[in-house]
Amino acid sequence: MSQSLFKKDVHKIGAENALGLQADLRSAAFPYFDSFCRYSSGNDFAPLFLCGDACQVLGCLPSDSIDCCMTSPPYWNKRQYKDGGIGLEEDYHSFVDNLLKVFAEVKRVLKHTGSFWLNIGDSYLEKNLLNIPSRVAIRLQDEQGWILRNTIIWNKVKGCPDNSEDKLRNVYEPIFHFVKQAKGYYYDIDCVRHKPHSTKVVNGAVVSATGVSGVRYKRKIELSAELTASQKANAFAALDAMLKKVQSGEVSDFRMIIKGEQRTTHSDSERVSGRARELHEKGFYFLKYNPKGAKPSDLWDILPEDTQGRASHFAPYPEDLCKTPILLTCPRGGIVLDPFSGTGTTAVVARSLGRKSVGIDISSSYIEDAGKRIQKRFSQMEFAMGGHQ
Ligand SMILES: C[S@@+](CC[C@H](N)C(=O)[O-])C[C@H]1O[C@@H](n2cnc3c(N)ncnc32)[C@H](O)[C@@H]1O
Repeated sequence: MSQSLFKKDVHKIGAENALGLQADLRSAAFPYFDSFCRYSSGNDFAPLFLCGDACQVLGCLPSDSIDCCMTSPPYWNKRQYKDGGIGLEEDYHSFVDNLLKVFAEVKRVLKHTGSFWLNIGDSYLEKNLLNIPSRVAIRLQDEQGWILRNTIIWNKVKGCPDNSEDKLRNVYEPIFHFVKQAKGYYYDIDCVRHKPHSTKVVNGAVVSATGVSGVRYKRKIELSAELTASQKANAFAALDAMLKKVQSGEVSDFRMIIKGEQRTTHSDSERVSGRARELHEKGFYFLKYNPKGAKPSDLWDILPEDTQGRASHFAPYPEDLCKTPILLTCPRGGIVLDPFSGTGTTAVVARSLGRKSVGIDISSSYIEDAGKRIQKRFSQMEFAMGGHQ
């Protein structure tokens, strides 16, 4: 176990040192840099935890070295973590400024193919919901050039009890998915698809998972007053061919849109929609379901399970929250970063999915807790603690 590394490298770079840091940084940077380089080039998948202020620690890491970042920074003005840090600023503008500084470093260390998943909660000030997630997201796009691919709504389903009489309960938080480049970022959609339900054969006829057998479509084609005779013949033939594809598993399910029978699913304008044009020219078109299954949506129902117990940490996020981001955007064997690692949830999930991970936290006791959690979970494994204390 390389815990001795953690004990030996005794430099603490905390937020309180930030002002006097520049002079020290060059010499102090090496333990972080060395630990990271050894870790990234090695075969050890046990997480690496680095203790210190996220902005300063990230400043010591090499550019283009991280595959994916998943994190949840502190709320503003809500919680007092063990070693202070971000979230305790006098005003929320300074809080947003400080987050932006960390995320500029995240962008630098992230590979061009990398992704940044940011779960961020909001705060009220004098009854006014501050819109902090939106403020941060817009500044990331406008000032740092991040490209926003999705805003996921994490529906906590239960949420905290709320006895106020003048507003609704708050049960969701956003998760933003940012990338550095619009095309060519790593994205493995097939590994998060919901498994398709299988087709059945009922009375000798193929029936898709959602009950489509073609009987109703055939009747609609027959009775259609809008299709010409040749369009009807083509529609019957195409429907038979589609049912064969369902039977063979090439298509898992489908819908048939027939002229005059259903509304087009997109725009009715032929100028805007290729489907509207197809409907006009052929009299029908198909919506095919991917045989590998449906993509998850941007609404995630995940209970805020407390895997660590509130006594040790105020805000661990659920492991399920990290699974989809890591599977989607970090290749096997790649490195996941969490610059506000807390109890190490991101690291636990990364390890269980066969990815390396680097967790940074300003609190050495949270880092210890995260290390113990990893050891307990993966009891045969060692975990590496590098950098400074
Ligand atoms: C919301 S918690 C993260 C919880 C984490 N996702 C988990 O599942 O345990 C935010 C963490 O950020 C840490 N933190 C606050 N300011 C920091 C800073 N400047 N640099 C690094 N970590 C910081 C806190 O100590 C806290 O553990």
